[in-house]
Amino acid sequence: MEPLNTGVIGFDEMLKGGIPKEHIVAVLGSPGTGKSTFALQFIYAGLLKGENCVYLSLEESEDTIVKTASIFGWDLKPYITNKKLVLIRLSTMNIKAAAAWVENDLPRLFKSFNVKRLVIDPITLYEMLYESETLRREHLFNFAEKIREHGITVIMTSETNNINPYNSKYGVIEYIADGVVLLRQVRHNDLQSVATVIEVSKMRRIEHSRDIKPYSITKNGIVVHSEAEVFS
Ligand SMILES: Nc1ncnc2c1ncn2[C@@H]1O[C@H](COP(=O)(O)OP(=O)(O)O)[C@@H](O)[C@H]1O
Ligand SMILES: [Mg+2]
Repeated sequence: MEPLNTGVIGFDEMLKGGIPKEHIVAVLGSPGTGKSTFALQFIYAGLLKGENCVYLSLEESEDTIVKTASIFGWDLKPYITNKKLVLIRLSTMNIKAAAAWVENDLPRLFKSFNVKRLVIDPITLYEMLYESETLRREHLFNFAEKIREHGITVIMTSETNNINPYNSKYGVIEYIADGVVLLRQVRHNDLQSVATVIEVSKMRRIEHSRDIKPYSITKNGIVVHSEAEVFS
């Protein structure tokens, strides 16, 4: 299966090349762990390879995303102009309209735009639209089916659950996802500092690393220190 590089140095090696094509991958982590950065880096890596990309934000405005990317040295503007990148901010003020957009307009875009990479950051706000776990599962499952018809590789971000920090907020996306990547903050024993670590807890159809590796958010984006051991 053809892997898609994420552009995250050290991480692609953990997956033996990258995310398998057409996988839906959940990136989980508490606020500030770098989920949005990771997602943006994945999109930029696709743009560099000439792939059409869609970044759907349920949190930040288009302008903010372009600005954040430029700080990491990723200039999105030419790709927006050349129609290689569609950047959409969905307002969650009108939740019904937002849900309808995701379920009707987004699949239409898949057809007309030949999308190769899609980011939904964060999927949590979409999940929130549904009151019950049953409805949430049902809608997410149908949505994943639609994505799979179009050969798109997807990153969905989610905050972690307060009670179980290894699970996503609603504990549903891990079931529809082909892969789960966990970003975590760990406090050192001296309680003087916090380290960030990454692990791949699920990645269907490939033999991935099971290691927990430290990573940093640098001026060039996320870098996984694949040679380093965390608990040494
Ligand atoms: N240019 C930068 N250099 C180093 N670290 C940065 C930079 N920009 C952001 N960060 C770090 O990334 C964090 C935010 O990352 P973000 O991807 O928005 O996290 P999340 O989406 O998980 O909330 C900040 O809290 C900061 O620690
Ligand atoms: Mg974020």
